[in-house]
Amino acid sequence: MAFSVSSRELETEITNLLQTGVAGNVSDFVCWIKMEIQKKFKDEAILSEKDVANFLEKQKTEGNLISGQFDAREYFLSPDSEFHKKNQTSDRYFILGRLDFSPLQYVKTRLEYFLRRNQVSEEEIIDISIATLEAVENAAKYGDGTSVEVEYSIDRSKLFTISLLNNIKDFDLEDDIKRGKFSSTATLMRGMMVMQKLFTSVDLEILDDRKQASFKATKQLAK
Ligand SMILES: Nc1ncnc2c1ncn2[C@@H]1O[C@H](COP(=O)(O)OP(=O)(O)OP(=O)(O)O)[C@@H](O)[C@H]1O
Ligand SMILES: [Mg+2]
Repeated sequence: MAFSVSSRELETEITNLLQTGVAGNVSDFVCWIKMEIQKKFKDEAILSEKDVANFLEKQKTEGNLISGQFDAREYFLSPDSEFHKKNQTSDRYFILGRLDFSPLQYVKTRLEYFLRRNQVSEEEIIDISIATLEAVENAAKYGDGTSVEVEYSIDRSKLFTISLLNNIKDFDLEDDIKRGKFSSTATLMRGMMVMQKLFTSVDLEILDDRKQASFKATKQLAK
């Protein structure tokens, strides 16, 4: 059965999303509403993309949202948006590791918002964002498409810590060979190299008899 989202529920869902700091275009918001409905009701959402677009445009007219600096179709919170919540030094949430829910853009923009609100420099934000996306991509690629726990914080010594936890999908060696992971010359493994370069420490642990992957990384920020 599919779940039909009324325009009132749509507005509530979008408001909740905006309060987390995520930013994206209309179709990203559509994906994320579907992700929220899937998380809450384990059901597929039917919704009007037009209603989503209209609500976002309305918030822009009212001064709560502005166009993205690099892509004018993206919606970001304006500096004095009513959607800003109290500043937090940690954030924790669940995403679904399915690329059709646009989880990469979700984590990227929510994380960048968090870092900016915590006065992290733009240079460090770029490094953390690139490295984190590699980790989220892995969680979606090697995960079973269900819940991925995302958690990060900045402590008093300005140490940024991030952890991800995903269920691992059944291993398919044929698949890996096809996409060239185990080619005769080299494995890909570019992601881990990028992460090792951009984070201060990186750790990937396979738990519970290969059923879960626990990723942890830190970055010491400039004081
Ligand atoms: N979240 C995860 N869950 C399960 N396995 C993982 C996870 N992250 C990494 N791995 C394992 O570690 C390996 C190394 O990851 P890495 O990101 O370096 O390479 P890749 O994803 O295979 O290729 P690339 O990132 O270069 O496209 C993966 O191939 C996978 O086997
Ligand atoms: Mg990878």
